[in-house]
Amino acid sequence: MRERQVRLRQRAEGPLRFRIVRVLVVGSGAREHAILLSLAQDPGVTALACAPGNAGTASVAEQRGLDVVDPTAVAALALDWRADLVVIGPEVPLVAGVADAVRAAGVACFGPSREAARIEGSKAFAKDVMAGAGVPTASCEIVDNPAHLDVALDRFVAPYVVKDDGLAAGKGVVVTGDRDLARAHAMTLLDGGHPVLLESFLDGPEASLFCLVDGETVVPLLPAQDFKRVGDDDSGPNTGGMGAYAPLPWASPDLADELVAAVVGPVAREMVARGTPFQGLLYAGLALTSAGPSVIEFNCRFGDPETQVVLPLLRTPLAGLLHATATGTLAGAAPLDWAPGAAVTVVVAADGYPGTPGLGDPITGADADGVLHAGTRRRDDGAVVSAGGRVLSVVGTGADLAAARADAYRRLAAVRLAGSHHRTDIALRAVNGEIGVPSAG
Ligand code: AMP
Ligand code: GLY
Repeated sequence: MRERQVRLRQRAEGPLRFRIVRVLVVGSGAREHAILLSLAQDPGVTALACAPGNAGTASVAEQRGLDVVDPTAVAALALDWRADLVVIGPEVPLVAGVADAVRAAGVACFGPSREAARIEGSKAFAKDVMAGAGVPTASCEIVDNPAHLDVALDRFVAPYVVKDDGLAAGKGVVVTGDRDLARAHAMTLLDGGHPVLLESFLDGPEASLFCLVDGETVVPLLPAQDFKRVGDDDSGPNTGGMGAYAPLPWASPDLADELVAAVVGPVAREMVARGTPFQGLLYAGLALTSAGPSVIEFNCRFGDPETQVVLPLLRTPLAGLLHATATGTLAGAAPLDWAPGAAVTVVVAADGYPGTPGLGDPITGADADGVLHAGTRRRDDGAVVSAGGRVLSVVGTGADLAAARADAYRRLAAVRLAGSHHRTDIALRAVNGEIGVPSAG
């Protein structure tokens, strides 16, 4: 009855004005905390839940325990909690088919099907889609037999790019000028039974573009840049992401539209043509090379930590947009409304990350404004303690990037976690005007 009323209201008022009412967000990172804070601002939302969540999401949403990779369990929770919309944050449940199960249970779900999520779950699949769509990307070769590795490496030149052909939480990639290191990483992957992807190196600054995609309809959000290496000046190993900023002061104001025309639109159409339309957030990770944009990777969900800087700048109510995407009505959405200014986030990581992190250490200052939670939990005595590698994502905003950066580091200075580390140079080169797209020739 209630669902019918909602449907009737939707028809009467149009897709973006009806009340979404109850939204369940699946995941437990700072990305999900940022999504919840945006949803909480949407007047169409009356109840929020997060599963399994963390100590920070508990302050904005009801918490439910959940095995997020169990499609049956997620669908059951959506029904039990009477969700009108389920938003799936991480890639692992999407690749496991959780969105299909939620939709099969009759609940609107923001997130692609298992088939469409292969654009992130299998780099080989993503390359095939890009080839079909005529979208530029690094040339590549897949090696699944150690006996073929050396001859394959001979077909590339330094710097070598060696990837795991599967989900690796951003840590399966090694980019190195050292052939022995490249070979050793490939052998480790092969020994673990993982096929290896060798790629040509793409030069130029990187950009992350999030697009709401509903079949062939593509609506870009603001371009952002993230920082994957653990240390200042891009030193050390790759991580899940150590910071981000948006928008990109060094890029053309038309960048998002150009990337939709050259990259995301053709890929969305190719997915439809293959019978696996994408519905959710398609994230293009690009290198802006002298020869034009080239795709580094696609992800099938909001990026972390870029979400923490893109969503604070979005004024359009988020739940309406996600619901429209989930229900095939995105084409009717009004143009997005963005706040002026910029946002910067700096990730606070636990001792040892991206290796095995120290856990259970008390954090002070974690409840302050602008402090988003990732790997945290609240102890029975009320203390917030670390519970993962990336612990917090501190967000600053300001009239321009320099002000947003100063705001983020000012907020971070009030946070204490023994042994933690963070980068001190997030957005610094952009503020200093040191980033530019290389010119052709
Ligand atoms: P991925 O997991 O594919 O996003 O790769 C992680 C990071 O490795 C990217 O953000 C880039 O910094 C780097 N990377 C990946 N592929 C390439 C490539 N073909 N050329 C240059 N850098 C790359
Ligand atoms: N920021 C990288 C990712 O979300 O995969």
